[in-house]
Amino acid sequence: MIEVEHLTKSYGRGNAVSDISFKVNKGEIVGFLGPNGAGKTTTMRIITGYLPATSGTARISGFDVAEQSLEVRKRIGYLPETPPLYPEMSVHAYLEFIARIKGVATADITNRTNYAMEATGLLERKDDLIKRLSRGYKQRVGIAQAIVHDPDVVILDEPTNGLDPNQILEVRNLINRLSGEHTIILSTHILKEVEETCQRVVIINKGRIVAEDTPQNLSKQRAGSERTHLLIRGDEAAVKAAIGTIEGIHSIEAKDKEGLLDVTVENQAGTDLRSQIAARVVTSGFELFELRSESLSLEEVFRQLTTEEKTEAAS
Ligand SMILES: Nc1ncnc2c1ncn2[C@@H]1O[C@H](COP(=O)(O)OP(=O)(O)O)[C@@H](O)[C@H]1O
Ligand SMILES: [Mg+2]
Repeated sequence: MIEVEHLTKSYGRGNAVSDISFKVNKGEIVGFLGPNGAGKTTTMRIITGYLPATSGTARISGFDVAEQSLEVRKRIGYLPETPPLYPEMSVHAYLEFIARIKGVATADITNRTNYAMEATGLLERKDDLIKRLSRGYKQRVGIAQAIVHDPDVVILDEPTNGLDPNQILEVRNLINRLSGEHTIILSTHILKEVEETCQRVVIINKGRIVAEDTPQNLSKQRAGSERTHLLIRGDEAAVKAAIGTIEGIHSIEAKDKEGLLDVTVENQAGTDLRSQIAARVVTSGFELFELRSESLSLEEVFRQLTTEEKTEAAS
């Protein structure tokens, strides 16, 4: 559905995006996650055909965004960082106007406008002037204009930016509802956003993709290790000796907790050693009171990936 290959955009000195490649399949909802200045908006503007790339290609449903931009714009809906709303127009007049611009057949305009207003919860505000709407409702209008021509692909640039927590929740639910019918890319610098809404996340930093996976896998695999916490009755040295010979274990720490041993075992990420550890503890004759695993949160992974210090730049 979306194919981006070796996309680079340079503004004079330095690249805003460097050699970015990724694919999005039909019906997928992918999050573009990165700190401010990472290159999210630049990438989205290139994919939507609003900005020419310096090199590389992007295709939407097989159409090249630079060479077949008309075909692309029919198939794409775009919510820019600041949507071009017309404050003096009413909600439905504005959406009809956009539908017409985007080439919706005259006979379908009322239907499509109603669909967009219904999907975004705007029907009861259809006659209000846009300038009278709250920020959250304006954002709904922005999303409505992105879907009014029934595009295959919807691109949302920081759709919850500047909204209050209730409005954020509404927009999130709205995106989830849309995901059944459209392929969606959304960008955000807020981690929770992708954890809540996206099936896949592409992490971008300084114009480059630094990771790409499901939110679950990213927090599991990219994190250096997993931790298992145990509560055991037994002698510290004996417990450490028993567990320590299990393959894949990096470290064992133990401290006293109300007469029991509070043991933290670190092992390589992606290897689930819980049953082995439990079996070893029990067969060695210790009592096991508690066992739980944790992996580093996606937040920790995100911070690791986007704040790595560049040693060569510092020297
Ligand atoms: N028109 C422009 N001219 C020069 N540099 C730009 C322009 N637009 C963006 N940039 C630079 O490109 C980089 C990526 O910006 P942007 O794509 O807006 O990032 P994001 O959306 O992730 O915050 C930033 O360093 C930004 O300063
Ligand atoms: Mg941006």
